[in-house]
Amino acid sequence: MNQPDLPGLFITFEGVEGAGKSTLIAAVRHCLDEQGVDYLATREPGGNPTCERIRELLLHRHELDIAATAELLLMFASRAQLLEQDILPALAAGRLVLSDRFTDASYAYQGAGRELGFEQVAALEQIVHPHLQPDLTMFLDLPVALGMVRKQDQQPDRIEAEALAFFERVRAGYQRRIEQQPQRFMLLDASLPAHQVASQACARIADLLHQHRTQGHA
Ligand SMILES: Nc1ncnc2c1ncn2[C@@H]1O[C@H](COP(=O)(O)OP(=O)(O)OP(=O)(O)O)[C@@H](O)[C@H]1O
Ligand SMILES: [Mg+2]
Repeated sequence: MNQPDLPGLFITFEGVEGAGKSTLIAAVRHCLDEQGVDYLATREPGGNPTCERIRELLLHRHELDIAATAELLLMFASRAQLLEQDILPALAAGRLVLSDRFTDASYAYQGAGRELGFEQVAALEQIVHPHLQPDLTMFLDLPVALGMVRKQDQQPDRIEAEALAFFERVRAGYQRRIEQQPQRFMLLDASLPAHQVASQACARIADLLHQHRTQGHA
């Protein structure tokens, strides 16, 4: 953990719409449950009652025309609340935290997708969590069009209703993040069958937990 006073482990899951984040997190939780490992699973935006209200505003109010900068600030508002109430206390207590999306998603969706630029996102990151980065980020890589096919039967939310070009910028934004901080990412080929993606992810997390324990953590 890059914040020495936080003994927990922080793992985030990223990827474009339909890449399989929720499916993978369910599988990882199953692996952890079988091993009796304690964890907190959360998601962004949302994750606790206050943040879910922000999520509702961000994703499910199609009638609202939310400005790109306001969208970015609301994402960080939800994140600040979730960090304060849930993520930081769990990490301080030495727990494993799994989050379905985190700040990389703001770089990808608002920085690249909405074309606000990485600098604006970095400025907010500096305010909201200047010293915290995930210990590991699982990036589910999938061509945008394939993710859309996977989700074609579901009603799109406000952001998912964007055009293909938006999601191509999002995917390129994620790739830029990976180039900036390659040591933090595990890249997963999300076009593989879900059970194969899950076994790669579970093996990596088991290794990380082992390494963490041998370094003297609970
Ligand atoms: N590896 C896979 N191969 C084929 N289909 C998959 C795979 N992983 C997930 N799916 C299916 O694709 C759909 C989208 O998966 P999922 O909801 O896990 O994606 P997501 O990344 O969480 O999407 P969102 O960004 O909307 O939350 C689901 O119907 C799921 O069953
Ligand atoms: Mg999901």
